Amino acid sequence: MNNRLLLVDDESEIRELAIDFFSGAGYHLDLATSGNEAIARLKKQDYDVVITDLIMPDGDGRKVVSWVVENKPFMGAVVMTGYGSVESAVSLMKMGAADYILKPFMLDELKVVIDRCISNMGLREENRLLQEAYARMQEVKNMKEKFLALTSHELKTPVTILNTMLGFIEQKTDSECGIREQLALMKKTVGNLTETITEMQQLAQSQEDTIPMHYQEVNLFNLIDEVVRDIKLLAADRQLEITVNRQEGEDAFLVVDAEKIRRVLFELLQNAVKFTPDQGSITVGISREAAEDDKLPRMLIHIADTGIGIAPADHEKIFEKFYKIQDAHSHHSSASAFLGGGLGIGLSLARNLVEIQQGRISLTSDYDNGSTFTISLPCRESIPSR
Ligand SMILES: Nc1ncnc2c1ncn2[C@@H]1O[C@H](COP(=O)(O)OP(=O)(O)O)[C@@H](O)[C@H]1O
Ligand SMILES: [Mg+2]
Repeated sequence: MNNRLLLVDDESEIRELAIDFFSGAGYHLDLATSGNEAIARLKKQDYDVVITDLIMPDGDGRKVVSWVVENKPFMGAVVMTGYGSVESAVSLMKMGAADYILKPFMLDELKVVIDRCISNMGLREENRLLQEAYARMQEVKNMKEKFLALTSHELKTPVTILNTMLGFIEQKTDSECGIREQLALMKKTVGNLTETITEMQQLAQSQEDTIPMHYQEVNLFNLIDEVVRDIKLLAADRQLEITVNRQEGEDAFLVVDAEKIRRVLFELLQNAVKFTPDQGSITVGISREAAEDDKLPRMLIHIADTGIGIAPADHEKIFEKFYKIQDAHSHHSSASAFLGGGLGIGLSLARNLVEIQQGRISLTSDYDNGSTFTISLPCRESIPSR
């Protein structure tokens, strides 16, 4: 499409020369003889660039530029001016004019100014669109966070009531009447639901600056053993070998918020179970990293599986909230089945819980080679104050 220009000048000579030159160069050029005539045209029609003389009897260039800046900021305004009024041209640029050119000029000089203006306006428009898209993204992010906090809060009460009621019914139910198995299934389902809601609530809390920390010295191996025991119970129907690499009598004492690390280990081990087919293996181990510069040495917990692996392009994305690689159509909800999905918030929760203790989670993985998630935690000597 031809670029559309509007040239405003009360001198007929400039108008006539310009029309020949710019039409020949492939532009669509319209003309106006005064500022007021230009504004009347601009109200009806859009242009890429408006080139206006500064001093004209019926509505001057200043009026044209301020109208364009206020009403059609996507258009470029170029001011033509003599030496005597350079200062006015500069003040118009401060007001929002794109450029100015000193009279007298050659028409191909004007063309250079116009072309530069068109490409700058394009960049400006792209920038504006990017800013708009970013603002929309921030809005969606805020909505996601609000949704998470509100929904988990709203679901918590009914689930707690269901849990309590189920307990009462169980106590009063005669063991022979066959309802016990159904009750057990209901309890398991409500248990899964409670677990999901707790995960949602903890994720919402972990995003707040005020999350309470409870540091204490723990033997990481004991923490790992406890979580592995829970995971083995959960995955009892899966044929997976889950082992902890630990030398006889080896300890790994560390000052951490133990409950938060327990949750992180649980999320990572549960993922390893879900994304490793039967006959596969999951191994947990600990190693130590020497201090770098003036930083503390670090303790590393590795959770390695022989599962389906994660393509490098997804390594960062899986830590985003509600992100999962599998598409929603093939989603089936399960705490331990192979490829059984959840909400896609486990890893973002795990990362938040590790980062608030100055730790990191990293991942090495590729298709066919399984995945290894590594939690790296600073070896603190004392309990930090906040
Ligand atoms: N050990 C793993 N092996 C392969 N893929 C994994 C592993 N851990 C996580 N993923 C991928 O990352 C996604 C996000 O994990 P997560 O945030 O825990 O959500 P969820 O477990 O609810 O799906 C998973 O849906 C899965 O696609
Ligand atoms: Mg998970």
